[in-house]
Amino acid sequence: MEIQPASILDLGALRKLENACFDKDAWPLLDLIAVLTWPEVIRLKAVEDGQLVGFVAGDPRPSQAVAWIATIGVDPGYQRRGIGRALLRACEAQIKLPRVRLTVRMSNNGAISLYEQEGYRTCDVWKEYYNDGEDGLVMEKIL
Ligand SMILES: CC(C)(COP(=O)(O)OP(=O)(O)OC[C@H]1O[C@@H](n2cnc3c(N)ncnc32)[C@H](O)[C@@H]1OP(=O)(O)O)[C@@H](O)C(=O)NCCC(=O)NCCS
Repeated sequence: MEIQPASILDLGALRKLENACFDKDAWPLLDLIAVLTWPEVIRLKAVEDGQLVGFVAGDPRPSQAVAWIATIGVDPGYQRRGIGRALLRACEAQIKLPRVRLTVRMSNNGAISLYEQEGYRTCDVWKEYYNDGEDGLVMEKIL
């Protein structure tokens, strides 16, 4: 598995990954185009056997001294092999701000466990953040 910069050429593969990983939370096409083209965004893909099997995007907000992990996903067939952790670490390594944050569904125990192992702590709860009314945990790591 290799981690490489992603680009607009990955749009088709990212769309498939997004649908496989996120189901009802999958981003619309325009958001995927934005994340693959917006100049400041850190965008990395995990590639195995020539295929995109994971993706992470980091969104630096220098005015708030924080970067947000905008999305992270690993193809279900490739999960639990360390790819999510590797993508998260690679994205953090490119962030030049003191803090990184993300939001996660309260019920997403697998992702929360990964984030806690990587040093993230819950710093806020956004009530009914998700479309179906589930609360979002805001987690933060000091880099
Ligand atoms: C969350 C996600 C990115 C993790 O990717 P991954 O490649 O499977 O994660 P890793 O293999 O690096 O996991 C590292 C550790 O995190 C924990 N972990 C990850 N997924 C887990 C799960 N489903 N259940 C329990 N623990 C989990 C484990 O401790 C794991 O180590 P282990 O496999 O040795 O036990 C992936 O499950 C995913 O894409 N999920 C769907 C999309 C999603 O929920 N994204 C996050 C939105 S905030």
